[in-house]
Amino acid sequence: MGFSAVKVNERVYWVGAVDWAVRDFHGYSTNRGTTYNAYLILANKITLIDTVKAPFKEELLARVATVINPEKIDYIVSNHSEMDHSGALPAIVDAVKPEKVFASVMGVKALEEHFHFARELIPVRDGDTLDLGGVILKFLETRMLHWPDSMVSYLVEDRLLFSQDGFGMHLATGERFADEVALNLLFNEAAKYYANILLPYSNLVTRLLERIDSLGIAIDIVAPDHGPIWRREPEKIIGWYREWALQEPKEKVVIVYDTMWGSTDLIARAIADGVAEVGVAVKVMRLRANDRSDVMTEVLDAGAVVVGSPTLNNGVFPTVADVMTYMKGLKPKNKLGAVFGSYGWSGEAVAILVDELKGMGMEIVAEPLKAKYVPDRVVLTRAREMGRFIAQKIKGRR
Ligand code: FEO
Repeated sequence: MGFSAVKVNERVYWVGAVDWAVRDFHGYSTNRGTTYNAYLILANKITLIDTVKAPFKEELLARVATVINPEKIDYIVSNHSEMDHSGALPAIVDAVKPEKVFASVMGVKALEEHFHFARELIPVRDGDTLDLGGVILKFLETRMLHWPDSMVSYLVEDRLLFSQDGFGMHLATGERFADEVALNLLFNEAAKYYANILLPYSNLVTRLLERIDSLGIAIDIVAPDHGPIWRREPEKIIGWYREWALQEPKEKVVIVYDTMWGSTDLIARAIADGVAEVGVAVKVMRLRANDRSDVMTEVLDAGAVVVGSPTLNNGVFPTVADVMTYMKGLKPKNKLGAVFGSYGWSGEAVAILVDELKGMGMEIVAEPLKAKYVPDRVVLTRAREMGRFIAQKIKGRR
């Protein structure tokens, strides 16, 4: 009925769904849509790896039907219980009546708490293997990457890693394979995904990659639950993850701010000019023109985060407060911080933001800059000096 499976190798097919229209993924802007990837393994025990978001269940079943009768599926493995991958699971279980449904120990709990299954789900543990009849599926728990239930499944004979959210990206394309998509687009969307989903668990990413190395798990294909499949050069995306997980700051300043009547905007632009003068990269991100998830993408490799807000009703401007809450949860590391803002009569926002950045472990490197009403030439010169100073501090860290 209009949908077809895509062959990944001699026994694995992609049978997921493309969501071209989604633009908001629990607060993460998905400007290029996404995919919910599910995979069919043709072995003696025919196995479905993950499902899709609930509204896409017919698309999954239709793709499976181009390879086999869906009722022939013996096993379903749920690598991750978040509903973009499990939403269709109850309906798929009803439709295909598999012999067994597997998930991690925490995954079984989470799926039961989501869907209140009447049937038994079978827990698998870290290092367990499942014989599909001549081919082996090995499970590795990846707790908190990025949910407690998360695990990955490794098809030993094909050296293929079903990596659930890991190595994924929100990118809807007609192409199913990374080697068919422009590398800079893959890099940018994978970085956005890492910054907004995996960043707080970076130490676990490093540990997992070390563990994969120490176990001698060779990976020829990375098949994630979102975005293209890496059937060639999977070391590219794995290498990006190794680097992002270290959170080593680059010579780059992100200025994130909002403005009421243009004063805080003027200061932001003068700071940016000072940063650029020193030869350090600068990204100026006025909120309401940039959303929180794009801000975090730029923060990922930044050396300094400079935050500006006017004072509104004795507090921080709402869009800036939103980004601070979001950023705090994602726990960026190794950043310098600085704060600025204009005010009319009370001017609390700057002090509040200083505390927020300190609370995130950032070192405040420059005297906060507060300007009453509209900044004059003196204030703008100070702003430019502030930019130069921050940029020099970043250079001095190397
Ligand atoms: Fe793609 Fe954590 O779900």
